[in-house]
Amino acid sequence: MLKLILILIFCCLSFLVHSQRNCGTEPYKQNIIRNYPELSSRYGRTNSDSLLNEKLSRLTGMIKIPVVVHVVYNASEENLPDSLIKSQISQLNLDFSAKNKDIINVPEIFKDRIADCQIEFVLHSINRIKTNKRQFLIQSRKDGNGYKVYSPSYEPIKFSYLGGVDALPCTQYLNIWVGNITDGSDGQLLGYAAFPGGLCEYDGVVIYYKCFGVPSPYRPYDKGRTLTHELAHWLNLRHIGGDTYGGCGDDLVADTPPQKGGSDEGNKGNGYGQNYGCPNHPMVYNPECPETVAEMFMNYMDYVDDACMCMFTKKQKDRMRSLFVEGGDRSHFMNNDVANRQLLVSDNRRTDIFTPTIVEFKKYFRCKPIHDTCRYGFVFWTEIDGAKEYNVLAKKVKSNIWKTITTTNNYIKLGGLGSHILYEIKVQAVLTDESQSAESTSFVFNLKGNNPFSRFRKLQLIR
Ligand code: ARG
Ligand code: ZN
Ligand code: CA
Repeated sequence: MLKLILILIFCCLSFLVHSQRNCGTEPYKQNIIRNYPELSSRYGRTNSDSLLNEKLSRLTGMIKIPVVVHVVYNASEENLPDSLIKSQISQLNLDFSAKNKDIINVPEIFKDRIADCQIEFVLHSINRIKTNKRQFLIQSRKDGNGYKVYSPSYEPIKFSYLGGVDALPCTQYLNIWVGNITDGSDGQLLGYAAFPGGLCEYDGVVIYYKCFGVPSPYRPYDKGRTLTHELAHWLNLRHIGGDTYGGCGDDLVADTPPQKGGSDEGNKGNGYGQNYGCPNHPMVYNPECPETVAEMFMNYMDYVDDACMCMFTKKQKDRMRSLFVEGGDRSHFMNNDVANRQLLVSDNRRTDIFTPTIVEFKKYFRCKPIHDTCRYGFVFWTEIDGAKEYNVLAKKVKSNIWKTITTTNNYIKLGGLGSHILYEIKVQAVLTDESQSAESTSFVFNLKGNNPFSRFRKLQLIR
């Protein structure tokens, strides 16, 4: 049941006219914690633990995350060009590596906290889907106090049967959906993210198409920082003042100065936790935290305009990278992405086992005359570096006896298939030292049914 809940952060509806937004995060989170207390430890996970620190120090080098951008469009203006998508990913990488031009705006007192997070987002593919659904609104309702509570269970943009597009496997890709997520009347939601530890099909971030890409016409959210902010949530960062309204807020990060905790309570902008617009340093809007002489409003995790946010801190970096150490909620990226192999080998433990993913299915069925040799299928999976062969496990869904076939190819031809029978297949890599990867997730197919991979043929590969 816990897994049915997706942890989302919904911040900040923007009212362009007033240039301020409010935030649905807090009531939403409190609601989850009340119902699923075991999640509060996730929210609270800090980097004080010494084992974690030890693992972190061994996790050196660049963490590379393959990215798929799903452009889900109805109106043609929502179908953003490749150039804009690439500009957005470039800005994102500049921001995460402290190579953004405006980093010079970090005030002197915070300069030594600036972090190059050494996380790189690698654009793997752009998946364009035209849909007849015009808006992808998130279900919300008012709670007893009149605050918005977002329901995570209905997110049509993430599901093709609801007019959106399905995620690629979350263990291998970061899924970014770009589309129209507003109804135009209730302010604008710029974007939202799934925290680590949620359901795979919902994992990733969703960005309003108008503030995706650099530059976008959507001032003051026109410099691509919505994605930077949301991906930091995806990597477990909280808002700079924590997300409990009032008092001296805590974001569970030691080197960001405490500031008043924010939520959408009151929806009044500056002074209610978050900072908006473009404040002047040094600034203390929230005297609740006596030791704070200047708020770090220029951090990506405050709510200021795109032009005024420009840094992550070293401890924010640690908190994000903690997800990638052994046992961390996003550590599977280290096992699957060939680009990360170097990193893991230097760790000297057997974490470098790579699991294949079944990526394509081709079937030959409607050939004439219809006889057995006409009914066959090809199943393809991702090639694993260092694999000498693959074990293919196959069976009829109804049977419980797996048949194992070994091949050196990254595909297999399955012949003599019954036309109405459901089959199940999974793959495991065997490395040169005979160690075996985990089994891929099962692919279930039927020669008569739809090909679940056909939509991915539209993927544009960018290298
Ligand atoms: N989730 C936040 C919102 O929808 C994102 C804010 C990002 N801030 C920015 N300056 N782009 O408002
Ligand atoms: Zn946020
Ligand atoms: Ca802090």
